[in-house]
Amino acid sequence: MALHTPSHPLPTKLAKADAIEVAALYDRCADYFLLQDGLAPTLADADELFIGLPSEKEARDQTVLGWRGDDGLHAVAAILRDYPRDGTWYLGLMIVEPAHRGLGLGRAIYGEIEDWAAKRGATEIRLAVLEANEAGERFWRSLGFGEVRRVGPDAFKIKSHRRIELSRHLAGSFGANGSQ
Ligand SMILES: CC(C)(COP(=O)(O)OP(=O)(O)OC[C@H]1O[C@@H](n2cnc3c(N)ncnc32)[C@H](O)[C@@H]1OP(=O)(O)O)[C@@H](O)C(=O)NCCC(=O)NCCS
Repeated sequence: MALHTPSHPLPTKLAKADAIEVAALYDRCADYFLLQDGLAPTLADADELFIGLPSEKEARDQTVLGWRGDDGLHAVAAILRDYPRDGTWYLGLMIVEPAHRGLGLGRAIYGEIEDWAAKRGATEIRLAVLEANEAGERFWRSLGFGEVRRVGPDAFKIKSHRRIELSRHLAGSFGANGSQ
């Protein structure tokens, strides 16, 4: 279910040339990068959003979407088609800037991503949330995601994390309460 309001513009596809704008959003989301990496984000982290792919996938398999307001990007998300298997689409990152969190934007943009992917053949959405990101885990579970497995620990700059791989099977359109 897509929700479009004046404060919630339609997403646009982003390309590597938009990395500076993504880096500015990441700066505003330093809380998340400090949790993940133990260090503030850099331009290289924004570049990585566009080029950091599993070796068997190519840039054309990934779509990076951005939600812009008058004051720049409010949110970005990156989704990889058919990974790790056909029909499963992998949400590599979804981040909302702190000033816009807790207002329903995350839920709304996830709904848009899911509808967009389902129209292109996705039957399942997967993602991995850091075990340390308890708020993020609660958010995804509230949208109907369930645990597949735990992986790691893996290195993230000066930190190390185990991650919870979560999945949601698409049996219909995304509902307002996160149910199918
Ligand atoms: C996780 C994130 C994307 C959620 O976006 P958001 O715009 O804040 O979420 P919403 O306002 O749409 O909230 C949707 C639901 O999740 C719940 N929720 C959102 N953030 C929550 C939090 N920190 N703790 C508990 N519940 C939360 C809300 O209560 C809401 O439930 P409701 O509709 O029943 O009231 C956003 O907080 C974020 O960018 N966090 C930092 C990056 C991150 O963790 N990304 C995910 C990495 S896997």
